[in-house]
Amino acid sequence: MTSTHHKAKQFQAIKGVRDILPPESVLWNRVEQTAREVFGTFGFAEIRLPIFEQTELFARSVGQETDIVSKEMYSFDDKPGGMPDPGPFVIPEDYTVAVEHAMKTGQIPLNPSNQSIMASVRENLKMLRKASDLSRTQEAEQAYMRWFVALQHLELGESITLRPEATASVVRAYIEHGMQTLPGNVKLYYLGPMFRRERPQKGRYRQFYQIGAEVLGSSDAPGIDAEVIEMLMRLFERLKLKGAVLHINSIGDKNCRPAYVEKLRAELQKVREQLGPDSQRRIETNPLRVLDSKLESEQDIIHKLPRIADHLCESCREHYAEVKKQLGLRGIKYEENWRLVRGLDYYMRTTFEITAPGLGSQNAVCGGGRYDGLVELLGGPATTKGIGFAIGTDRLVLSLQGEGEGEVQGGLDVYLAWFGAAAHSAAIGLARRLRDAGFVVELPAVEMKFGKSLGLADRLKARHAVIVGDDELAAGVVTVKRLSDGSQQKLGEQELFSYLRAGNA
Ligand code: HAM
Repeated sequence: MTSTHHKAKQFQAIKGVRDILPPESVLWNRVEQTAREVFGTFGFAEIRLPIFEQTELFARSVGQETDIVSKEMYSFDDKPGGMPDPGPFVIPEDYTVAVEHAMKTGQIPLNPSNQSIMASVRENLKMLRKASDLSRTQEAEQAYMRWFVALQHLELGESITLRPEATASVVRAYIEHGMQTLPGNVKLYYLGPMFRRERPQKGRYRQFYQIGAEVLGSSDAPGIDAEVIEMLMRLFERLKLKGAVLHINSIGDKNCRPAYVEKLRAELQKVREQLGPDSQRRIETNPLRVLDSKLESEQDIIHKLPRIADHLCESCREHYAEVKKQLGLRGIKYEENWRLVRGLDYYMRTTFEITAPGLGSQNAVCGGGRYDGLVELLGGPATTKGIGFAIGTDRLVLSLQGEGEGEVQGGLDVYLAWFGAAAHSAAIGLARRLRDAGFVVELPAVEMKFGKSLGLADRLKARHAVIVGDDELAAGVVTVKRLSDGSQQKLGEQELFSYLRAGNA
């Protein structure tokens, strides 16, 4: 031990993640509770999903070339056990058997890649045995090396990823639980944290929260698209979010989009030199994403590019027209934005985003769209269609706060000041009855001097101080002091309850 005084290390939350503290958490709860209520009235039920999934699930659904999958995922190897201990003398036959056993017990993942590696391990083992039997030393050595090297390629852990979004999980769950046999459309909503390793800034975090909903079923009727959007707009209205703007687009399907993408790519090649490095790269990987570019110098160029709306096949064009008509039936205003392509690969036909004020450059509070091919892509029935959205809860809350809708009432109805042992016991009973009646009560845990106690009531912004001392006990009353104006009166318990209930609380 040294005599110098060392202060213990203090910890901070990791970059890009944050704590949501009271009273802000009160607003969060209100937002989430309102979503539950509104979504419930549209027949949606909650699905609770795991926070992590196999990396491959996201790679396949969101798309290998997207920013999310190629650079933003939090992935790690979940290593169940590792290779068996070879011991001092490795006998290839025995060791191969030990590895195969480890795969059977799950110590080494039994996946297709490992299975094909084990086939080659076995093959080399056979060659090793044959060469040894024929005393061909050099051949045997080579076979041994190949056997050994093949084993090094086994994947010892399954790659797991903290979910960057939840649509992939919902679809995985839908297929896993055979929900296609349920009657009608399956309508699910979810709330919770998502993880993306993005550059943190206002409205952009590495752990952020979404409120999302998905409709899965055999129908792709445009009325479903419109109703999903209607549900969102109802939620925003209920929350009194001002200035929300709905942007919509159709990005075609597997019949018409490929031809459009090729055309776009060809046009982009012609102007390649005038584009920034990101867009240049996207000409190859994902030309549609160039349309997303916010780079000032690219805007004029993008403006002249071919537009998907002019290249939709007839069924996509009709679907899009009907979505717009159905939005009209619901009195929902929208802006068509031909550049709205979204950053995830699973979308087709309808895409939409909602922007809100007060968010700076990260102004999308919600994004969504149709993803009819995704269920099939993840091994489910080819006939299942899907559409959904996710609201960025952090951004929604930020925007509500900016609009002054984030004000939360101080919650304390009664500060119950007691003086003396007998009053303490009475106050404990009174506190319980008040709380049972739904009032928010603060009961000081230790006795304080009168002035100090009432000072604390003030600082806690209690609406009332209820005072119980010897005088009150003797008279069978309490003293109620309204802290906003200092007015004071003595009331019996029944009168106190009526007084607090009469809107004075
Ligand atoms: P997304 O556009 O990637 O779509 O995310 C939806 C919303 O989540 C965004 O509009 C934004 O409000 C919020 N968000 C995304 N990243 C961040 C971040 N780093 N920090 C704060 N908020 C963020 C999806 O995730 C799709 N799964 C939506 C969907 C559901 N499509 C069909 N069904």
